[in-house]
Amino acid sequence: MLQRARQRLIFALDVDTADQAESLVRLLASEVGVFKVGLELFVAQGPEVLERLRRAGAAALFLDLKLHDIPATMRAAAKAAVKHGVELLTCHCDQADIFAGLDLGRTRLLGITVLTSLGPEDLAAMGYPEELCDPAALVTRRARLAMQAGCQGVVCSGLEAAQVRAALGPEALVVCPGIRPAEIGPGADDQKRIVTPEMAIRNGASHIVVGRPIRTARDPLAAARAVVESLSKGMEA
Ligand code: C5P
Repeated sequence: MLQRARQRLIFALDVDTADQAESLVRLLASEVGVFKVGLELFVAQGPEVLERLRRAGAAALFLDLKLHDIPATMRAAAKAAVKHGVELLTCHCDQADIFAGLDLGRTRLLGITVLTSLGPEDLAAMGYPEELCDPAALVTRRARLAMQAGCQGVVCSGLEAAQVRAALGPEALVVCPGIRPAEIGPGADDQKRIVTPEMAIRNGASHIVVGRPIRTARDPLAAARAVVESLSKGMEA
């Protein structure tokens, strides 16, 4: 069970040097199934960092670029990204259709539904109509769009995972950031829609993304093990 739980843990390598990222991979590879490279590391270090992380022991890589641009730029960026052989890549759900017919090789595309740092008040301020200011409603709508466009899964918070799982069926990847241990409540940092690892899995997440709760812990390896334990409890339920 623990081994299966580890496969479902994605660790966010939100650091700005390749040395730091590599050390984290070496330290955590036994507990983490997928390592996520986001904008901070990719912009700071360039694509070469991906190969270094592979050599350090990262079995699977997630390039979280959250692509959002005009169609020609999106398609060109996706073609360049898949050349790096990453297992997962993100774009925003409303633009997933731009990739129709494009050969992404073994890279699976995930649609970003609504960032987990946004709450109902942010959606209202962005101009969404009242019925879509409920994140669950907007997330589910965008998740359907992404899957119709050919994504293999979506990114949403664990709070919406049950609704998304019901809408997308058992095969879709449902990847949930905004994961926090039970003792941390909303408002502690920029994440607003948060749940525990156990709850995300119970709600139907296929994977969870964890960054700061592991990275800033006094003992990151122990923190990763605690997340895996919580994940595995959710899988038993
Ligand atoms: O440190 P923390 O656990 O909040 O990290 C969450 C990670 O997940 C970050 O790398 C962030 O970019 C990413 N993410 C997110 N919300 C999304 C998609 C990705 O927080 N909707």
